[in-house]
Amino acid sequence: MHCLGIETSCDETAAAVVRGGREVLSSVVRTQVDIHRVFGGVVPEIACRAHAEAIGPVVEKAILEAGLTAGDIDLVAVTSRPGLIGALLIGVSAAKALAWALGKPIVGVDHIEAHLYANRLVHADFAYPNVGLVVSGGHTSLYFSRGPADHERLGATRDDAAGEAFDKVAKIMGLGYPGGPLIDKLAREGNAKAVDMPRLDDGGPDFSFSGVKTAVLYKWKGQNEGKGKRPKPEHRPPPAADLAAAFQECVVDALVSKTLRAAEQRGVAAVAMGGGVACNSRLREKMQAACDKKGLKLFFPPLAYCTDNAAMIAGLGSALFEMGTVSTLELDATPTR
Ligand code: KG4
Ligand code: ZN
Repeated sequence: MHCLGIETSCDETAAAVVRGGREVLSSVVRTQVDIHRVFGGVVPEIACRAHAEAIGPVVEKAILEAGLTAGDIDLVAVTSRPGLIGALLIGVSAAKALAWALGKPIVGVDHIEAHLYANRLVHADFAYPNVGLVVSGGHTSLYFSRGPADHERLGATRDDAAGEAFDKVAKIMGLGYPGGPLIDKLAREGNAKAVDMPRLDDGGPDFSFSGVKTAVLYKWKGQNEGKGKRPKPEHRPPPAADLAAAFQECVVDALVSKTLRAAEQRGVAAVAMGGGVACNSRLREKMQAACDKKGLKLFFPPLAYCTDNAAMIAGLGSALFEMGTVSTLELDATPTR
């Protein structure tokens, strides 16, 4: 079965063709990052317009690169939740039009569940149950997963998502956008122990990143010097690489310890990660070391399937269809889960 996946929940217009739920025949991602960079974040209205322009060519390219024609598509899967409502609507409308024109079924897919499913595209031994950590620009959540679409939420962020914290800290430090990859790179030259940071693990399953963001702001600009204000002349900020490393270490430590505790409490043998922040080299390194120590198997996707893509949507869409889940042309976009 050939499934065409469509993803437009944030700032990537993506389409992909997946065969049999796991074999990626094509995965096309047109990022809007250059458009949003000047604003230092995603501007929803601009994202919608860019999706509307890109969706047709991106879908055509995905079908072409898979070596197929539109008639070979058996199922259309689309991200229908959660995300920016206008952005989601572009993908959902395109998917409905295609499904109707081709006379093929359509299935709406949850973007967060798809981030975890990305592991199934690449790891033949990916198994359930597991504890899954989704860390992206919009979400930071911990799940106990019994299957591709059976996830019990164990914890989530009370304020910023982990990726959002990376992006905001990079903005405070004037590093650029998106901040995650820039901090990851800069932190490699820094000493995380050189700057004090709060400990973020409170022993519970929920996350909070606003405190560490404020800590970075004060270290960089001086206490009580709000956003956008100039630091006092006498303020001596730490070296940027040290501050980046200390911030990253603090976030990574919280993600690792909370995930490992959940895995232990649920008695699972495997841990999975997904989402853009799962690209972070320090998170991969520390999560791997912690899992090795506890005898847990760790799964994370390659970089291209951590960040937003449509292969994970087509994959999960196929799995849902196999389990008997289909949507109708009444399918609507939902901004929340
Ligand atoms: O999953 P994703 O592409 O989009 C959402 O669903 O939000 O995640 C994007 C987020 C951004 O906040 C970006 O800064 C972060 O992932 N990110 C990283 C890294 N690469 C991307 N964060 C930390 N380290 C990285 N290497
Ligand atoms: Zn995402």
